[in-house]
Amino acid sequence: MDRRILIGAVLTLIIAVAVPVYWTREETRKSGVEAELEMKSLEQGAAFYVTNCASCHGDYGEGTADASPLRGTTLEIADIVRAAAEGVEAFPSTQHVYARDAGGPLAAHEIADIAFFIKNWDAEVLAELRGDVRQIDVEVSEFAYEPSEITAQVGEPVRLNLVNVGQLSHAWRMEGGEVELVDGGEADDVFLELEPGGSAAIEFIPLKVGTLTFYCPLPDHADRGEVGTVVIVD
Ligand code: HEC
Repeated sequence: MDRRILIGAVLTLIIAVAVPVYWTREETRKSGVEAELEMKSLEQGAAFYVTNCASCHGDYGEGTADASPLRGTTLEIADIVRAAAEGVEAFPSTQHVYARDAGGPLAAHEIADIAFFIKNWDAEVLAELRGDVRQIDVEVSEFAYEPSEITAQVGEPVRLNLVNVGQLSHAWRMEGGEVELVDGGEADDVFLELEPGGSAAIEFIPLKVGTLTFYCPLPDHADRGEVGTVVIVD
């Protein structure tokens, strides 16, 4: 009899522990699935944006002479969906009616994905989708960057592959110019360290015409010539 009570108690204990553990794992499993679905929405939204909206609203959502920017818009998702599905007053044209129900080319869930992408603008997803990142190799040594003058185009993702070919340690900082870092964060905060023989990379999308300056922040290095510019043209 005693043994049965003991077995019962042990079983109860096991269940008491196992159920919460199961619940917690179920929660993580669910959030994993949700994250995957969101990523799918982003990728599909980006793809539909590129084929349907970019020609007027800009390759990088920056707007064109034909239409306003959508990247960073303050519109709510529902407003974007409505504008794309039913058209906009400011552009009284059936061209802007995208809903299939109303004779347009896109299904409701496709418009929803575009709106989701616009509100959660992801430069990396877009760059990957396009596969158009321009690679530029930059060598650093005592006391220069080679090349020290780089030209980049608004909207075109650029990846600078830095290699330290010198005998000393070098580094990289930049300022000015309006760019979006593909990995997020502020361009002015970037600090890359380059040991002799070491390498590092920085990827960004120029957003506006201007000049970005880069330099080595180690003592005296910039004064001795370790500076350069990225000239951003249209
Ligand atoms: C043929 C050019 C063109 C295309 C392609 C286009 N739009 Fe537009 N869009 C406009 C114009 C013109 C306006 C009205 C003026 C403005 O806001 O720029 C507009 C307005 C908007 C607005 C309202 C902006 C605001 O601030 O009120 C949204 C949202 C929008 N478009 C989303 C989209 C989406 C999403 C797509 C792709 C499915 C798309 N547009 C494709 C030309 C275009």
